[in-house]
Amino acid sequence: MGDDNVALQERPVGKLDRAVIFLGPPGSGKGTQAKVLAAKYGVPHLSTGDMLREHIQKGSPLGLKAKPIMERGELVPDSLVLKMVAERIERPDCSQGFVFDGFPRTVTQAKYLGELLKYHGLKQPFVIHLVIGTALLIRRLTGRRTCKVGGETYNIFDRPPKVEGICDNDGGELYQRPDDREEVIQPRLNAYEKQTSPLVAYYRRLGALHQIDASKSVAEVEQEIAQAVANIRGAR
Ligand code: AP5
Repeated sequence: MGDDNVALQERPVGKLDRAVIFLGPPGSGKGTQAKVLAAKYGVPHLSTGDMLREHIQKGSPLGLKAKPIMERGELVPDSLVLKMVAERIERPDCSQGFVFDGFPRTVTQAKYLGELLKYHGLKQPFVIHLVIGTALLIRRLTGRRTCKVGGETYNIFDRPPKVEGICDNDGGELYQRPDDREEVIQPRLNAYEKQTSPLVAYYRRLGALHQIDASKSVAEVEQEIAQAVANIRGAR
């Protein structure tokens, strides 16, 4: 979960040299693919959703503010998220790049990120846009189950664990996220459409967007992303 599992993964394939952003609606596979890409390059996987859920679990002041907002399927205010992200990317493990999953989510966040990257001497980000239809998203979200211990994600319809309710990796209990209930999914999709989808045009204008068909299998999507990122490495 989040950025803590990087050290456990196989040897990195080389330097990433920039931030990679996963942009796509809830359930499009951002977390699934961001984890793999981050492990491949040995850089942190920064999921703002995971960070916020950790704050909620700890009962921190940020967690207390974020909890009811996330339970309604709305976006947490920019000011709270930006501070959390700025603090995280100041850590030395981010100096060679990192993979964002679920950030930025508004044009304000994207503009702020651009300034932060400049300040830290990092290149313009590369954005992977995951494209997928609504019916498939609902199936993925209602079927998702997550391990309480290691954060591994399953899907009861398409990627079930070997034993129902138990993580294949560490035997942890699987749970359903509160915001994956059907009545919260539509507000999340609406928030994406209204507040986040303008980022597609924003990053396309900057020439930094690569579109991927996210309805394909996990392995196929992974392969296409690996190719796109390999092509961009070293570019300005
Ligand atoms: P967050 O945790 O980021 O959730 P999300 O964006 O809604 O995305 P999800 O985690 O639901 O889906 P995903 O795209 O990662 O898909 P996954 O790989 O898990 O945010 C939660 C909340 O936090 C927000 O609503 C907001 O309130 C707040 N928040 C977070 N960041 C914020 C920010 N920057 N600003 C303001 N507020 C913020 O896959 C889903 C399922 O599909 C899984 O079961 C998986 O196994 C399966 N699956 C994945 N890929 C495939 C495939 N190719 N084929 C078949 N099944 C697949």
